[in-house]
Amino acid sequence: MKLPHHLTIKNSHLHINGLDCITLAEKYKTPLYVTSEDRVVEQFESYQKALGARYPKVQVLFAAKANGNLALMRALAQKGAGADVFSSGELHLALQAGIAPEKLLFNGSSKTPADLELAVEKGVKVSLDSLDELHQLDAIAGAAKKKVKVSFRLNPALEVPTHPKIATGLKTSKFGIPHEEIPAAYREALACKNIQPVGIHCHIGSQILEVEPFARAAEVMVRIAKELTEMGVKLEFIDLGGGLGIPYHHDTDPTPTAEDYAANVIPVFKAGMDACGITPELWVEPGRSLVADSTVLLTRVNSTKKAHKRFANVDAGFNLLIRPAMYDSYHEVIVANKADAPLNAEYTVTGPICETGDIIAPDRKLPEIAAGDIIAILDTGAYGYAMSSQYNSRPRCPEVLIHGSQAGLMRRGETVADLTAIMEHPPWQK
Ligand code: LLP
Repeated sequence: MKLPHHLTIKNSHLHINGLDCITLAEKYKTPLYVTSEDRVVEQFESYQKALGARYPKVQVLFAAKANGNLALMRALAQKGAGADVFSSGELHLALQAGIAPEKLLFNGSSKTPADLELAVEKGVKVSLDSLDELHQLDAIAGAAKKKVKVSFRLNPALEVPTHPKIATGLKTSKFGIPHEEIPAAYREALACKNIQPVGIHCHIGSQILEVEPFARAAEVMVRIAKELTEMGVKLEFIDLGGGLGIPYHHDTDPTPTAEDYAANVIPVFKAGMDACGITPELWVEPGRSLVADSTVLLTRVNSTKKAHKRFANVDAGFNLLIRPAMYDSYHEVIVANKADAPLNAEYTVTGPICETGDIIAPDRKLPEIAAGDIIAILDTGAYGYAMSSQYNSRPRCPEVLIHGSQAGLMRRGETVADLTAIMEHPPWQK
């Protein structure tokens, strides 16, 4: 199987950044998320380089929803990343990680008054999802005697090649304002005393393996940018969103890169900006393509059995990685202590959760497996831990970060005490 260069096989063991996954699993126990910081930085820099070579003003914002770990965000902050945050929690994390408020965009399709107050207090730009939200923010900013810079999230009504649950810019999608209603929305924003519309934002979907849809979205954005500029909106940024996919099927999926993205999108964008006579900042918000392949989830085989088919029962289930159960997503799996053994058996790798759907990897060609083997689930750095839960009252596992050849905890594992720490007995039980 093709592997990204931070994953290698030595002495039959899978290694990440040169560190033996089996040693890591023994030291930190399983299940265990292990992330290569170097890989994340490399992916981030590939966006900066590819876009920066073709357009003078570029800001790469990490989509914090993909991986909300503070240490990981700090590594990105130190390289100059901004962040797309989708909740007050993500906003706090991004600020704590050291990302400057001016590099943050507060997105969200259903923000609370408290979210909007926090955005105003911290001085971050807000991407508005409705006219209702515009007027709420105007009132909140007025009460705080501040003027808030905003964009609207534009719904471009584009069909994109991805799972329907993660296509976000369909005509019927819950996100954003229909593109044909966008000029009217900005007119209304211009009339608000405490609002300064300075950007436009869109996001068409996630896990998109072709670059052409992003160029189509850019076409819509530059068309609207022209209309808005003529209307008197002074555009400071245009945010084209995230969405570039990664090859989860290592040997067969296309492998679009930041370079492919930039080569297809920037010409459309630049021509559009030239036609408007403006040079706003170009913002992008990648999540998955920055962090997904940086991470392996190491899980121990508790038992194997031969029933209707052969099962390998492991200690990580959809409590730690919900993507297969939620989107039928495919993740490559490698038996990390038999990484170069012949694939002469077939197993369905199942988690420990009491649900029929708790299947990590169905019907995979793998070596003969025994209890105690360690299975690495690949490409789990995006929407892995971030979407985990404590279902079946299972404490979440730790996360380890690797920098060069150093490994360190970036989140300790939860304990049973953590499960009950926030529970209370109501007065009649005390
Ligand atoms: N910006 C906005 C406004 C978004 O809604 C998203 C993702 C991103 C950026 C980042 O997109 P990315 O570069 O990661 O594709 N949980 C799903 C993915 C949901 C994506 C939602 N929005 C999964 O595991 O596949």
